[in-house]
Amino acid sequence: MQGDIERVLFDGPAIHKRLEEMAAQISVDYAERELTVIPILTGSLMFTSDLLRRIPLPLKLDCLSVVSYHGKAQPSGEVMFKQLAVPDVADQDVLILDDILDTGRTLAAVRKKLEGSKPRSLRICVLLNKKKPRVLNVVPDYIGFDIDDDFVVGYGLDFMDRYRNLPYIGVLRKELIEQPSQ
Ligand code: IMP
Ligand code: MG
Repeated sequence: MQGDIERVLFDGPAIHKRLEEMAAQISVDYAERELTVIPILTGSLMFTSDLLRRIPLPLKLDCLSVVSYHGKAQPSGEVMFKQLAVPDVADQDVLILDDILDTGRTLAAVRKKLEGSKPRSLRICVLLNKKKPRVLNVVPDYIGFDIDDDFVVGYGLDFMDRYRNLPYIGVLRKELIEQPSQ
């Protein structure tokens, strides 16, 4: 698995250091409120678990499972919700967590769904933010790291459902990425 990685971008200690800072900021921002955290699975699993353990506030957790890539390295353009019922977030202070912001399609679709049940507030927190033009306009309120437009895996992020268990985030070797059929 390690041999498939072209270069490591963020190792475990670097990720955890940044999570400390993000958790501190979120804890200040939501000090007097009860947060409802909505992670987008599966990619946000490690991120969510490590971030939330650093936030000493009362909070609720309700996960959403979304497929946007269908296992390929290029977005299909379609966002599929895996569950029938989306969390009811009426009057709640919602924080959406996602592993990575790429085209913006996933977060735009999730935001739209959740806005339907009228939360009191809604913010977006991503671990990685790809520096590229978005297909849909999404501006995260909290960003872990800005990265170039490379395909990355590890620490929850996958390629064809693999590499999620790598303890670091790295760029996948280009020749391993299947080109989508046109
Ligand atoms: P978007 O809808 O294009 O913004 O993509 C968001 C989703 O695509 C993320 O939640 C990831 O699951 C996946 N994704 C985007 N870029 C990458 C990447 O570089 N590596 C792994 N997954 C990615
Ligand atoms: Mg994802």
